[in-house]
Amino acid sequence: MDILHYQKDFITYLESKKWVREPRNLYEPIDYIIKLGGKRMRPILTLMAADIFSNEYQKAMPAALAIEVFHNFTLIHDDIMDAAPLRRGQETVHEKWDTNTGILSGDAMLILAYQYFENYEPVVFQKLAQLFSKTALEVCDGQQLDVDFETRNDVTIDEYINMIRLKTSVLVAAALKMGAIVAETTEENAHLIYDFGLNLGLAFQLQDDYLDTFGDPETFGKQIGGDIIENKKTFLYLKALEISNASDTQKLQALYNQKLKENTSKITEVTRIFEVNQIPALIKEQIQMYTEKAFETLSEMNISKENKQGLKNFGLWLMNRSV
Ligand code: IPE
Ligand code: IPE
Ligand code: MG
Ligand code: MG
Ligand code: MG
Repeated sequence: MDILHYQKDFITYLESKKWVREPRNLYEPIDYIIKLGGKRMRPILTLMAADIFSNEYQKAMPAALAIEVFHNFTLIHDDIMDAAPLRRGQETVHEKWDTNTGILSGDAMLILAYQYFENYEPVVFQKLAQLFSKTALEVCDGQQLDVDFETRNDVTIDEYINMIRLKTSVLVAAALKMGAIVAETTEENAHLIYDFGLNLGLAFQLQDDYLDTFGDPETFGKQIGGDIIENKKTFLYLKALEISNASDTQKLQALYNQKLKENTSKITEVTRIFEVNQIPALIKEQIQMYTEKAFETLSEMNISKENKQGLKNFGLWLMNRSV
């Protein structure tokens, strides 16, 4: 089935819920972030996987909602940690309200996410909760590494890949595996679809890092250059350090050792160094490589051609996005 069909169905389900209750200052920010939109890619993956392995996806709705609510919780806390002003083209929760509101509304969302698993029978419930707890802890590990790297000058590309695997990929992979769990398919299928998600997740985060600097401010919905401002050790930066000439290497290191109030010239200079070193082309190669790796896993899977094509289309949709 078409990706947008799952998306539409999921949004209808999400909007049928009443998000706001007392105390309003706790739940209004939840309603706000949930309804800001976004691609809804993780719930789409949960529904797709359930559909592929059981031919019905409605029963995966609560699991899909759990993962989307969890994801939105991580975004609220991530925006506090990254001092980000914009999310999905609107003010971030901590800007619109304040940091304390962002912390507590986020905490409540994490708990709400777990509650949706109560819709499932004990065996499925336990598998979902187990996977979810493991994944959520890994996301914390990844987020901590991401922050630690801001002030480190010796981060390697391997360390970066491990960090994005933890902060981003495992959740994409878990979204798919949760669909497989709800469908009660074989361990083998659940494992392979998880693996597909891991590589797709790496491609996805590399693309997110690319868009953070080179995206269109009209469509991206986040502050362009935010990663540069925060000295994020992304593939763009690490690759540029590796291949730029001595003078640019020195400049790059100096720029990433300071936090400024006014960042226009820092962003311009760093972007120039990325461009003269052809970093956009190099990161696109990496995105392609991980996407193809994901597609290779598909060939090992015992599912129909149409279903494989559906998952491939999802990968291609992700690669060609501007949001
Ligand atoms: C943003 O995720 C956080 C990352 C892991 C890069 P998305 O790009 O899926 O955000 P929305 O939900 O579509 O806004
Ligand atoms: C976010 O990574 C990962 C999580 C939210 C766990 P980013 O910090 O790159 O995400 P964006 O770019 O703010 O969406
Ligand atoms: Mg961020
Ligand atoms: Mg972050
Ligand atoms: Mg980002």
